[in-house]
Amino acid sequence: MKKGLFIVLEGPDRSGKSTQAALLKTWLEGLGREVLVTREPGGTYLSEKIRRILLDPKSRIEPMTELFLYETSRIKHTLEKIIPALKAGKVLISDRYTLSTTAYQGYGRGLPLKTVETLNSIATLGLKPHLTVVMDIPDSVFARREREDEKLRGADRIEREPGSFRRRVNRAYKLLARRPGMTRIDAGRPVEEIQAEIRARVARILKRQKGER
Ligand code: TMP
Repeated sequence: MKKGLFIVLEGPDRSGKSTQAALLKTWLEGLGREVLVTREPGGTYLSEKIRRILLDPKSRIEPMTELFLYETSRIKHTLEKIIPALKAGKVLISDRYTLSTTAYQGYGRGLPLKTVETLNSIATLGLKPHLTVVMDIPDSVFARREREDEKLRGADRIEREPGSFRRRVNRAYKLLARRPGMTRIDAGRPVEEIQAEIRARVARILKRQKGER
């Protein structure tokens, strides 16, 4: 049986993760793999309910409550979707995972990083992705988006946060992308170029897994 493969796409809001996930799925299916694309918060019935609460602009949520809600969604996603998919030899691509919590609740909200990382490891049951791609938005693109932001405002609760919050999150991703084991991708380039780089990384892991069988 094929080995399971767990891929995570990370980055600030509107960094192109979902587009890349869809393209990657098509390519992997072409290679004969069964692929599931999920997202966080979300990915299961319960987690999608939690997502609705988290993103509802009418929800009043303190930072620590917010942290636990994201982690609760994660435990369910990990237990119900990710682990079974990997056991069945499938590829699971998750749009966001633990790095989002470190970036948004840790750096963005200012919660202690140690607390965030501890809860991250509890919520994942220690499971680590084979590949975490971090989309790094160039400062010029980020600044242009911020200027356009007034027009885009009013989407979900997190997107309604002030520019200072988004700047903290953006800076955090730049920092986190340099952590060992992360794959930093310059997200200022054309979609196809980014996809080619991600595919090359995935191909390397697949080759390695084949050698291990
Ligand atoms: P999405 O729109 O990219 O699916 O993500 C929903 C929002 O939730 C997005 O603004 C990022 C935020 N988020 C956190 O603040 N912490 C987390 O742990 C995750 C997974 C997402």
